[in-house]
Amino acid sequence: MFSQLPEPALDPILSLSVAYRNDPREHKVDLGIGVYKNSQGQTPVMAAIRQAETLVYQQQTTKSYVGLAGCEEFNQSMTELLLAGTNAMPRVAAIQTPGASGALRMLGDLLKFAQPETTIWISDPSYVNHRPVMEAAGLKVRSYRYFSRDTKQVDVEAMLADLKTAGKNDVVLLHGCCHNPTGADIDFAAWQAIAELAQHQGFTPFVDIAYQGFGDGLLEDAQGMRYLAEHVEEMLITTSCSKNFGLYRERTGAALVVGENAQAVAKAKGRLLTLARATYTMPPDHGAALVKTILQTPSLTQEWQTELSAMRHRLISLRHLLCEELRSVQQTNAFDFITQHKGMFTMLGFSPDQMARLRDEFAIYAVADGRINIAGLTEADIPYVAQAIKAVSILK
Ligand code: LMR
Repeated sequence: MFSQLPEPALDPILSLSVAYRNDPREHKVDLGIGVYKNSQGQTPVMAAIRQAETLVYQQQTTKSYVGLAGCEEFNQSMTELLLAGTNAMPRVAAIQTPGASGALRMLGDLLKFAQPETTIWISDPSYVNHRPVMEAAGLKVRSYRYFSRDTKQVDVEAMLADLKTAGKNDVVLLHGCCHNPTGADIDFAAWQAIAELAQHQGFTPFVDIAYQGFGDGLLEDAQGMRYLAEHVEEMLITTSCSKNFGLYRERTGAALVVGENAQAVAKAKGRLLTLARATYTMPPDHGAALVKTILQTPSLTQEWQTELSAMRHRLISLRHLLCEELRSVQQTNAFDFITQHKGMFTMLGFSPDQMARLRDEFAIYAVADGRINIAGLTEADIPYVAQAIKAVSILK
């Protein structure tokens, strides 16, 4: 039966890491997968994580099963990180999941069960895994206009015009901050407009906030999502500890359901546990044990926040350095949008051919849709990358 299968399609992001590793050229730059690198080009284990690992190692007495929802103290801490102080706290339920992709899939499956006719709207463009996960859950997927290739900013007017046509059976997937892949975020006024539309049109917002802390700060990055949670009856949230705790390989995330009241979300959580049992039984514990330890130990929380803030400030500085270099080599301010984008990514607006030239002629690996990972740059790479961008900007 397997020989009948079609050739598998390569994942547009994960396949880049393999191609980069196999490239024999001495000078190469990996701006593909969303991973933070320091100025030496490494992705070190965060100091707060190291300390939490020591504590967990010393204190853990068993490796026995935890439970279908994962670690409930982790779930509580993540819920507080996202929603503390909002009126959603008494009507939210959370489960720990294998990364945010696992959370997306669990909530997609929940939607398919609770409202089989759901259409989920994703931004154009969106995170490459949004459509595949939601289609795998059996949902219909539609796009709303989001990014203007001319201004390299969000076309809020077009976005809201599309969302005006979403209705009761629709769920609208939004990026909480640091939009992937464009780096272009909506402002607070747009969040307010979306909340109003959700109330009027009856659609359910779904916020994927995988980069909390990489834009303007932990609380600042959650403001739009928090406003929505305050103003709608039902809402879904996915979050990840891959980036802000640097726990990429530990697959640590959470899925949250905000509902009308505690009884309603208890039912949703019950269904999520049944779905988890039928999919992976329970999430891996190690990453959640570390995050829980950090968030429940004030000195470690402080240390983690300081490290995260240093990463954020370095990202902002890399954006400015790249922009200045491009200004000086190109004598143009055409790339100034890079400093206005937030988080790890920026959409250059290059064609797949131009992205292929970056790879083939300069050994610079980035996603074919034009996304570069600013967090993959080192300060030393910037002049080389700016020259390469200049070279491929001139159409052959
Ligand atoms: C990315 O977009 O590069 C990351 O979120 C990694 C992934 O899971 O695709």
